[in-house]
Amino acid sequence: MDAFRRRVGGFAFGGDYNPEQWDRSVWQEDMRLMREAGVNTVSLGVFAWASLEPEPGRYEFGWLDEIMDLLHDHGVSVNLATPTAAPPVWLTQLHPEVFPIMADGQPFGFGNRLHYDPSSPIYRDHAARITTKLAERYSFHPALAMWHISNEYGPTAYNEAASVNFRRWLQRRYGTLEALNDAWTTRFWGQVYTDWEQIEVPNIPRTWMNPARRLDFKRFTSDALLECYLAERDIVRSFRDDIPVMTNFMRFFRHADYWKWAPEEDAVALDIYPNPAEPDSHVSAAFNYDLFRSLKGGQPWMLMEQAASAVSQWKLNVVKEPGRMRLGSLQAVSRAADSVMFFQWRAGRGGHERFHSAMLPHSGPDSRTFREVTDLGRELKLLAPVAGTTQRAQVAILFDWDGWWGLEEVAGLPRNDFSYTDTVMRHYTPLWERHLPVDVVSATSPLDGYQVLVVPNAYLIGDEGVARIEAFARDGGTVVMSFFSGVVDDCNRVRPGGYPGAFRRLIGAKIDEYWPARPHEVFAVEFADGRRATATWWRDDLHLETGRALATYADGLLAGRAAVVENQYGAGRVVYVATLLEQAALDAVVADAVERAGVRSRFEGVPAHVECSVREDAAHEYVFLLNHSADESASVPLDGGTDLLTGLPVSGQVVLGPLGAAVVQVARA
Ligand code: GLA
Repeated sequence: MDAFRRRVGGFAFGGDYNPEQWDRSVWQEDMRLMREAGVNTVSLGVFAWASLEPEPGRYEFGWLDEIMDLLHDHGVSVNLATPTAAPPVWLTQLHPEVFPIMADGQPFGFGNRLHYDPSSPIYRDHAARITTKLAERYSFHPALAMWHISNEYGPTAYNEAASVNFRRWLQRRYGTLEALNDAWTTRFWGQVYTDWEQIEVPNIPRTWMNPARRLDFKRFTSDALLECYLAERDIVRSFRDDIPVMTNFMRFFRHADYWKWAPEEDAVALDIYPNPAEPDSHVSAAFNYDLFRSLKGGQPWMLMEQAASAVSQWKLNVVKEPGRMRLGSLQAVSRAADSVMFFQWRAGRGGHERFHSAMLPHSGPDSRTFREVTDLGRELKLLAPVAGTTQRAQVAILFDWDGWWGLEEVAGLPRNDFSYTDTVMRHYTPLWERHLPVDVVSATSPLDGYQVLVVPNAYLIGDEGVARIEAFARDGGTVVMSFFSGVVDDCNRVRPGGYPGAFRRLIGAKIDEYWPARPHEVFAVEFADGRRATATWWRDDLHLETGRALATYADGLLAGRAAVVENQYGAGRVVYVATLLEQAALDAVVADAVERAGVRSRFEGVPAHVECSVREDAAHEYVFLLNHSADESASVPLDGGTDLLTGLPVSGQVVLGPLGAAVVQVARA
């Protein structure tokens, strides 16, 4: 990636480019306007299979040769996509079995994209063939700077080929049928398997499902997609191994375990479309940016797609008001993105996304969006020294796909309306509002160097994860954990010894029963210092062992019993929240735990809507100050350094207008 950064001179800036949708006169205008906007990178050919191979075995590379040359002549690097996210119609006619069978038993059909079963050997053969052709032809083209493998891997398929592949996957995982029957608790409802051939993908959506089988199917689907990625990656690498390879991931995407994928990528890349109509969408964007930085252990990541203004996928697609796109782009950069890329360069005339904004909108270069894009391109050049730098955090938050699947993929829980991402965001928001840098960790990530670990609703967690969390606390760390954690093992089986099986010693309490609340039930909670708050949705019937109550219920059948527990565990401290506290009260619990752990933000007192974060390298810090308010100005005390966006020195304070931003370079002493 260092070579890539050098090649683009810092930040990659550009977008998806679909010249196959336009005639050549437009290409010339594209080159001119890309130069005007400062574009240095495009993602090319993402869905172009039908244009590259219009009939089986008949290739048309002429147009791609031409555009690769043209881009190179105009100083634009190419992130060349394998077009395998959109198999051509002839392929699906010849082999209808490549269509994914959906959960309702129906084939996906032709007319959208991502219409493939990742386990289909036919799909995989054809994908390998077109990938090989592209790699043969373009691996040494001077425009090639990166490989973009397929697009947004995601289909779940219930085909016969998926069942065959699932069985193979299960044989690798369990070795024997006995082990599988045990892991899946198949004595329940007499589901015992006596032959591997009896096992199929769990395609019975209208009924209750064996929770371990369903969980393994999620793991398998992620792995089947990953196999597709790896096959194409290995083909392009076999031609040349010094070109970075990536695929584009999505925000809060439930169907692929990105912890497992990330090590296989040279850079992780995110497509994200924060909804401008949602006032807090920038906070969940911040979480996703922190996740993406963390996926490869703190390395810079790539913002691969975002919208220049409105999107077209929702019921209501509002524009990004003036300044919002710039601020959102700088926000990604502030959390270690090393690129700002868009979907797409030029707005399309037809097709489903004809009203999706683009760097170059339908109204042409004389437009607000194009002016803002061009300004951003100029600003990113000023920020070039920031590229390659990273971020450090003392607080980590657990985010794990197994845990997510455990909570949301199968019924049969005490309540069945959990939202894992909402819970994670409830715990992340107080940290974000206090300008505390946060890394995201998986259940099996190393935890050295952190002072605080936040564990939101880790219902399903394997033994290794449990041991890591215990060791972290024992060695002096602070753990903040919320209810319904540590309940089942990685086969979705309740852990023995009373709830919360895995964490009873850690939290210093035993839970007799889980008490989901009735609709509209509200409970009063009183903290030891007299503060009162409300709680809803859930209570643990909790009995203290070594822990002590930080807050108790002030009414209801559990009056006087603990709602928030603190426990000394080894040299560490554990805070366990046994109910759904109103947000302000949860904020206070999280903030207090962090403060008592000795972690402080250097931006204490700065209003929450001014996002503050720092990238750094050995020589400099880069302080990003981003005012998310469209109405209010803000001033942040800061002494020394130079605002790279204005070139002006900073002394005493930085004043930010509505949606204003500053990036202050401070030399290390
Ligand atoms: C995704 C896809 C793009 C496009 C955008 C629209 O991220 O990768 O092809 O459909 O969404 O927002």
